[in-house]
Amino acid sequence: MRLLVSRPELARAPYLVVLNGEQFDAWLLTYYGVIVAARLDEAGVGTSYGLRAIQYLDEWSGTVDATFVRLRDRLYSWGPEFTVYIRGIDNQHRYLVVTLNNLYRYLLAGETGKALSDTLDALVDYTRFHFRSEKRLFDKYGYPRAEGHRRQHRWLVEKVEAFMEKYRAGEERLTLEVLHFLADWVRNHILNSDHDFGEWFLEHNVPIVDPDS
Ligand SMILES: [Fe+2]
Ligand SMILES: [Fe+2]
Repeated sequence: MRLLVSRPELARAPYLVVLNGEQFDAWLLTYYGVIVAARLDEAGVGTSYGLRAIQYLDEWSGTVDATFVRLRDRLYSWGPEFTVYIRGIDNQHRYLVVTLNNLYRYLLAGETGKALSDTLDALVDYTRFHFRSEKRLFDKYGYPRAEGHRRQHRWLVEKVEAFMEKYRAGEERLTLEVLHFLADWVRNHILNSDHDFGEWFLEHNVPIVDPDS
């Protein structure tokens, strides 16, 4: 089994390795060649995780079907389609996307400690700051759909606050599912709602470069 995870391509990206044998099914999550999570379902025995599963697979010899699924190393990148034609807001969105990607990499790398929670705290704080920046723009220039837009912001903030309360109490973990939800919300919000105010400002010739100036 050692041979199996020492395949050279595994050193170049995150991978999900799915193993199907007669006596067991298993999956391994590898992050640039290092196994960071494992699950093993042994026929007639049950399920084990982590080190126990890795140990079993390490000692096991025989044939097994292996499928290698290369995982993306980021959720998505900020591209020109994200622009709202306001440099300061674009930069804030870029920062949000970078922070979401950092969280994604931490999760893939099996990081669950301080680095992960500090980055999550930073994302939450920055999101609030960012929403305030957009609100200031709406107030200053009279964007007509501000109320509906701010309702979307509030909806997310409430959801994130409820999650963070449980997260800090140790009742909830940041999972890929939670992160995907957050990242999808951010992307859809930028591409639709934020893009809408960007176009409105553009059409009304509002000369904004930096939202905080
Ligand atoms: Fe935004
Ligand atoms: Fe927004």
